[in-house]
Amino acid sequence: MVGQGGWPSSSYEAVMKRCALILCVTLGLVTIARAQDISRLEKIGSIANFTKSEKSVVFNCQDNSQLQVTVLSADLVRVRASFGKPIPSKDHSWAIAKTEWVTPRWSLSETSEAVLITTDELEVLVRRSPLLVEFRNAKTHAVINSDQQPMAYDAKGLLKEMLFDSRGTFVAAAKKLGFDEHFYGLGEKAARLDKRRSSFVNWNADTPGYLEGRDPIYQTVPFYTGLQNGNAYGIFFDNSYRSYFDFGKSSQQRVWFGAEGGELNYYFLYGPSLKKILNRYADLTGHMPMPPLWALGNQQSRWSYYPDTMVEEVVREYRKRDLPLDVVHLDIDYMQGYRVFTWDRNRFPDPKALSEKLARQGVKLITIVDPGVKHQQVAKSTAQITSITPELEPQDPRYYVFEQGLLNNYFQKRESGDLFIPRVWPGESVFVDYTLPAAREWWGSLHRAYTDNGVAGIWNDMNEPSDFVDQTGRNQMDVVSYDEGEKSTHAKNRNVFALLMARATYEGLERLRPNQRPYVITRAAYAGIQRYSTMWTGDTNSTWEALALNIPMFTTLGLSGEPFVGSDVGGFMGRGSGELLTRAYQVSFLAPFCRNHKVIDGYDQEPWRFGKYYEDIIRRYLKLRYQLLPFLYTTLEEAHQTGTPLFRPLVLNYQDDPNTYNLDDEFMIGNDLLVAAVVKPDVTRRLVYLPKGTWYDFWTNKKYEGGTMFTADAPLETVPMFVRAGAIIPMGPEMNYTGEKPQDPITFNIYPDDQGSASMTLYEDDGTSPAYKQAGFRRTTVTVKRVGLGYVVTAGAPQGSYNPGTRKFSFVVKSTGRARVVTTNDSGAEQTVRLN
Ligand code: GLC
Repeated sequence: MVGQGGWPSSSYEAVMKRCALILCVTLGLVTIARAQDISRLEKIGSIANFTKSEKSVVFNCQDNSQLQVTVLSADLVRVRASFGKPIPSKDHSWAIAKTEWVTPRWSLSETSEAVLITTDELEVLVRRSPLLVEFRNAKTHAVINSDQQPMAYDAKGLLKEMLFDSRGTFVAAAKKLGFDEHFYGLGEKAARLDKRRSSFVNWNADTPGYLEGRDPIYQTVPFYTGLQNGNAYGIFFDNSYRSYFDFGKSSQQRVWFGAEGGELNYYFLYGPSLKKILNRYADLTGHMPMPPLWALGNQQSRWSYYPDTMVEEVVREYRKRDLPLDVVHLDIDYMQGYRVFTWDRNRFPDPKALSEKLARQGVKLITIVDPGVKHQQVAKSTAQITSITPELEPQDPRYYVFEQGLLNNYFQKRESGDLFIPRVWPGESVFVDYTLPAAREWWGSLHRAYTDNGVAGIWNDMNEPSDFVDQTGRNQMDVVSYDEGEKSTHAKNRNVFALLMARATYEGLERLRPNQRPYVITRAAYAGIQRYSTMWTGDTNSTWEALALNIPMFTTLGLSGEPFVGSDVGGFMGRGSGELLTRAYQVSFLAPFCRNHKVIDGYDQEPWRFGKYYEDIIRRYLKLRYQLLPFLYTTLEEAHQTGTPLFRPLVLNYQDDPNTYNLDDEFMIGNDLLVAAVVKPDVTRRLVYLPKGTWYDFWTNKKYEGGTMFTADAPLETVPMFVRAGAIIPMGPEMNYTGEKPQDPITFNIYPDDQGSASMTLYEDDGTSPAYKQAGFRRTTVTVKRVGLGYVVTAGAPQGSYNPGTRKFSFVVKSTGRARVVTTNDSGAEQTVRLN
């Protein structure tokens, strides 16, 4: 058959298809490019008048729009705008942890051009016409951040074709791009540390095997910081719709952010230090609670270890090889037919006995829990449904979770009233509407199926939510959630789905085991996730490129309010190598979450799989991790208190030093330990940058003067690590698992600065219970001074009610090698030791 113009029809069709594809792609690109030209959007009207209340100023605009500026604290201001209508009275966000703020001192003044709101730290200048908002330092009046154009919305529907849900109205704000402004944050992005001149989309997506540049991936954290001339500010655009951030990619003048619906609603946080911003952000969206100490232990996973004897074998192997281990993860095959809250009794006949057996070896179990609840046959009568019976017979066609959820109307439905039925591991499934408080409570209680069996923690996966029918989420646009009575649709709720699932899980664990700290790990998230869950970076590749991304991804997550992060050590997909795995451990042995995990059809990747040579090196780093636990735990507690993450980019500690602004292959743990990891193959040396000041080589104690680059030896055995002069790194004994032995002795490794001083405050608690919230901790401040030719060490009187009992403190001055061991006194008095 001959097609038009004499082409054989098959090739004609092929060409037409290709043309159509090219046209679609071009149109798509044009649409996106035009969308990014937000100057075409309708601008908010000029100010007609305003009213001042105790906390806020509401500006009424000539086009009936409103702008509300609320002073929450001297360094935190909220900006909320509506377009062509008043700001709605409903004001709710799943991300916000603190809504009641003690209003600080602030004042208002006005000129014919502008209204000025002043706190002790910030000036917010609102220009009347056109309406432009500018933030300035209250003391110097220097501009920190200012609108590049008035806030805007898509009044004419110019962007309708681009929207996932055409019922939304695009809203956007544009800021001037500083010539030397750097951008950090935005949560989980497969990108480098400095986000300047790049753009991003936030829309939680299951993206296995993602490469650098893939966007979006699993999480949405619409919070970023801008840094210019050493001054930082933060913007948290609290809008859960599909959102966009452009840090000067489409224009040299402009940074903009916007969303496909919802309010233009953002928080402006002023530093000038990044640490202060992170602290405020944690106040606003929640501080990470202390995870149990064992969460810092080494973890091993596989899709999937089964049956139970296989799990025992993995643990036996770890112990036999003298490799430390705290946790084994059970991936989806522990369930009966992938039905969450069930056990496959053939593979795991007695999960309680298994967890007890493992507990005797110091190992805990974590089970995966996906949101997909298998959709299946329903019971005949409601009387049959009420009990929680996590034990299904293998052939049982009924499933209590599905039945209870259906009976109580907890599952998501489409606008038509039909159940929404995605396909995930169990096949046809349903998702819980976690915006319903009763559904969250029910879901939390279902975890009895695990806690009754001694499972220690829960791993939430596939919670973007992933749907094999359609990963984009477009197929879910008419799925309705209760959403505080608003009955909103997927466009608004997709990005908070995982946050609310994690919340239900965390709160459930808290109720089921009130004396134990819950431990949850999640793949997807929205801002505020740190209140409920730790996270890992999903399905990475076993490649050097993916390993190199670990560092900027971890540090970026830390700068986005998520301190407890990690990645599948060695990569999830594909075939790694001994060298890659070893280098991967040299990054992850200091990440809060250190778990080796591998895809079902991937090559084995446990630490011993590539031979003794690599295993020996990996052992050394895992053992070092356990020795560093007093240091890591202290730094983790700082993250809990202050929001400053444990795993940091150098810029967080040295924000005045431009050499740190886009450093992607070094990181710091806390303020004191710097690691110049190797993320390339065949490398035995690498360039290292140390910020100004004196540093000690962690391995040799050799001193370096910072502020410059130099080449360090980096054979596979040795990752270059440096300690800041003035620091004290506390270390405990070697252990096979956390809590195997008391932290006795604690060795305080002292690295005196040029004046001969050093100090640190050690944090300790019971590691498991919530007592730390009521002063159930111990803080011991150790200070060192040079006196004459020797050193005087003072261990101050400890604070807090936790008492670990008498033990030994060993003080070692690294520059001289002098050391002394003392027995601590239980009386809590200060102790002074001389090292001559
Ligand atoms: C997802 C997870 C992965 C897990 C797998 C099976 O791909 O990201 O970690 O092993 O599902 O549950």
